[in-house]
Amino acid sequence: MRPLIFALPLLVSLAACGEEVKEDTTPPQDTQPVDDGMIGFADDVLPLLETYCSRCHGAGQTHGGVDVTSYESLMASGVVVASDSAASQLVTIGSHHGSGWFSAEDLATVTSWIDAGALND
Ligand code: HEC
Repeated sequence: MRPLIFALPLLVSLAACGEEVKEDTTPPQDTQPVDDGMIGFADDVLPLLETYCSRCHGAGQTHGGVDVTSYESLMASGVVVASDSAASQLVTIGSHHGSGWFSAEDLATVTSWIDAGALND
């Protein structure tokens, strides 16, 4: 019994710790509406690519050599120029072609991620 009783508060405090660390990494609010400083590839960008792009640029089909299945395959496709969304075809082409579009908000998410360095985070 004892170990359990001791483990519980430890788990709770660990969870609380995680929350705090997350909040502390948020930079002071700047003028970018969507960039809360926590846009990440796995959490924010990949789900958008899977939703809008992967049926033509993922499993099975990779039109134009674009494969959005993973960070590695996306970067290897050459459509992302880190820190330069204006030069990134993922934005310039991906925003206005195909049949399932990035919404303005989704596009801003992708743009912010690229301009922040297009990290695999
Ligand atoms: C309905 C299918 C379809 C969907 C959905 C689609 N694409 Fe495409 N995409 C294509 C086709 C077809 C091409 C042209 C391939 C070629 O020129 O050989 C292309 C080309 C591209 C290119 C240019 C590649 C190059 O080197 O010329 C980019 C970048 C691109 N798509 C990004 C996206 C993004 C980002 C999304 C999601 C928002 C998306 N596409 C959704 C079919 C699709």
